[in-house]
Amino acid sequence: MRINKQERFRQLATFANVVKNPQELHGVWKQDCFANEHPITLELGCGKGEYTLELAQRNPERNYIGIDLKGARLWVAARRALALGLTNVRFIRMNIEVINTVFTAGEVDEIWIPFPDPFSKKPNRRLISPRYLGYYRDIVHTSAIIHFKTDDDGLFHNSLQTLEEEKCPIHQVIADIYKEPETSEILKIKTTFELKHLASEKKIKYISFSLGNG
Ligand SMILES: C[S@@+](CC[C@H](N)C(=O)[O-])C[C@H]1O[C@@H](n2cnc3c(N)ncnc32)[C@H](O)[C@@H]1O
Repeated sequence: MRINKQERFRQLATFANVVKNPQELHGVWKQDCFANEHPITLELGCGKGEYTLELAQRNPERNYIGIDLKGARLWVAARRALALGLTNVRFIRMNIEVINTVFTAGEVDEIWIPFPDPFSKKPNRRLISPRYLGYYRDIVHTSAIIHFKTDDDGLFHNSLQTLEEEKCPIHQVIADIYKEPETSEILKIKTTFELKHLASEKKIKYISFSLGNG
């Protein structure tokens, strides 16, 4: 039976793995939320949370937090995490723009950004833009790696240019992950949007980078 949006929102508010007041955990996520000292990975614009769910199962010694504005998608992610009994996973419904109100400097060890909206006419809203890189700089550990996947050629090239201009060290660039023989298994985790893009024969591209000193 399909559950409508209003019912999803109602249930989301009751899920134990959805953090309702994330600002209260600013600076104390490891101790007060996860009760461990394990590194924290964020999935930004997580949608139905495929990376969070898959990585959390593979790496029980890490903590994972999926973030998105859309409650109906987060409902799918949070429900799956509960069904899988994942204790190292949380979700937050929030705008990434205010991420530094939720995490303190150096609190985040890794970020995944799978298939962000291209925002071709609104470059300021792109998750790889000078503005958003600034938000990430406020919260990541100096050694943090950011992983970005896209099907969109324009966004891919624009992101490479932005990262160069922002002096972000680039670690790996793959123009077509399913053609590249050395692609790691982690890059082949498929999200809801990736499956749609593969069905329309788009090439899936990947960049990993860190933030440097800005
Ligand atoms: C194209 S969808 C991709 C979803 C998922 N990563 C996937 O690959 O299936 C982009 C997602 O980013 C979210 N998003 C975009 N900008 C955001 C922002 N500023 N804060 C929070 N979520 C955002 C949208 O709500 C949407 O769910």
